[in-house]
Amino acid sequence: MAAGKLKTTYICSECGYESLKWLGHCPSCGEWNTFVEEVVNTSKEKGRSVVSSLRSKPVLIKDIVLNDKEIRIKTGDAEFDRVMGGGIVSGSIVLVGGEPGIGKSTLMLQVAVKLSGLKILYVSGEESQQQIKMRYDRIGNNDMNNIYILNETDVDVIMEQTKEIQPDMVIVDSIQTMFCGSLDSSAGSISQIKECTALFQQYAKSSHVPVFLIGHITKDGAIAGPKILEHIVDVVVMFEGERNYGYRILRAIKNRFGSSSELGIYLMQQNGLTEVSNPSEVLISKNTENLSGVCLAATLEGLRPIIIEIQALVSTAAYGMPQRTTTGFDYRRLNMLLAVLEKRCNFKLASKDVFLNITGGIKVDDPAIDLAVVCAILSSTVDIPLDHDCCFAGEIGLSGEIRPVTHIEKRLSEAEKIGFKRMLVSGYGIEKLNRHNSSIEIVPVNRVDEAFRHLFG
Ligand code: TYD
Ligand code: MG
Repeated sequence: MAAGKLKTTYICSECGYESLKWLGHCPSCGEWNTFVEEVVNTSKEKGRSVVSSLRSKPVLIKDIVLNDKEIRIKTGDAEFDRVMGGGIVSGSIVLVGGEPGIGKSTLMLQVAVKLSGLKILYVSGEESQQQIKMRYDRIGNNDMNNIYILNETDVDVIMEQTKEIQPDMVIVDSIQTMFCGSLDSSAGSISQIKECTALFQQYAKSSHVPVFLIGHITKDGAIAGPKILEHIVDVVVMFEGERNYGYRILRAIKNRFGSSSELGIYLMQQNGLTEVSNPSEVLISKNTENLSGVCLAATLEGLRPIIIEIQALVSTAAYGMPQRTTTGFDYRRLNMLLAVLEKRCNFKLASKDVFLNITGGIKVDDPAIDLAVVCAILSSTVDIPLDHDCCFAGEIGLSGEIRPVTHIEKRLSEAEKIGFKRMLVSGYGIEKLNRHNSSIEIVPVNRVDEAFRHLFG
């Protein structure tokens, strides 16, 4: 091969920015230490474009005819279908991201099993056919399936096989193990990931077969992750959860065919993932009624209201430096809330250990749970349990004021559905609230100290 045709370049693993020399700081996305060295072969044609092969012409927008029969494949898994925006769109390319071991392969195999009428090609570059068969037996199956397992990592060979098998859906596990012979870099490098994705995309668009790409990300996302693919694919979903807890959340990050704020909740069990259609009822423990430090918050995950349980433990610090530990909640936000309690409400928490836990191992970044967090801390501090038929929604500002939250009607109706009698919410703008015919009692509070007086007298 002519020496001049091989070129070394440096690519940012976060955003795909290319540079001729190594850089510590990416000028495009601002990340540090993300550049990796790649060898690219400039002699081959590059930059395959899906669009160019279609020879498209511009059309006036009013003349575009909508295809009513946009084919959506329903999997029968209500959570999965909802995250997909109402089913899998034919010819779409979907990236399923998540940390290793979270359950991506299980999820996709279960989806394949549910689609018993279709021919599915499951390409695995990670596990042997026997391993997949063991998982298949474990998740309980019906023998009506048409699932073909292919152990292959060469995309050109995979393309040959798709011609032969003519599948209705393709699952690629995982995109990091795939490689394409026209590039010199090794599997998992950024240029390989990009090129293989482009090939699969070309296949999906030309054959109208949906393709699912499984992609690993690490905790800090530093390794050649699927992040750079987010703008190439049609749909990006993330499968997340705490490995030590059973709950898994399938979250749409980007969806060209539906809302990107949908999410599905699953429980990982002995025999695979089960759908959780009533998360609020599952996430609340029923036997904490007389315990202090437990508080229920009406939060919103995507567009879905969920009641979650927050537990706080406040105790005198035994060793000099007080500890603050959180699970599922932002540590810095907890420090902010503690500072507000200290400064605005005169609670002496500086010498206390504070532990905060959101049950079920789910992570919440909805500021509306601030009020519940503060009430759980206060309840633990004074050691008085909160009423178990009361729930909370309010954001807390730096001066201790309780601010209104979004979609309060949804939160109220979810709380009512679960059987709560009262809800503490911000008093601001409460008169504009559309009550419909809900009967849950609304307790407006404007400041943290006011909430404290209301709850503990
Ligand atoms: P897997 O789908 O292999 O994860 P990924 O493809 O994201 O790496 O699932 C990994 C974990 O799921 C593994 O630790 C075992 C657990 N698991 C169950 O608990 N029950 C099951 O039925 C299956 C199939 C897996
Ligand atoms: Mg896997």
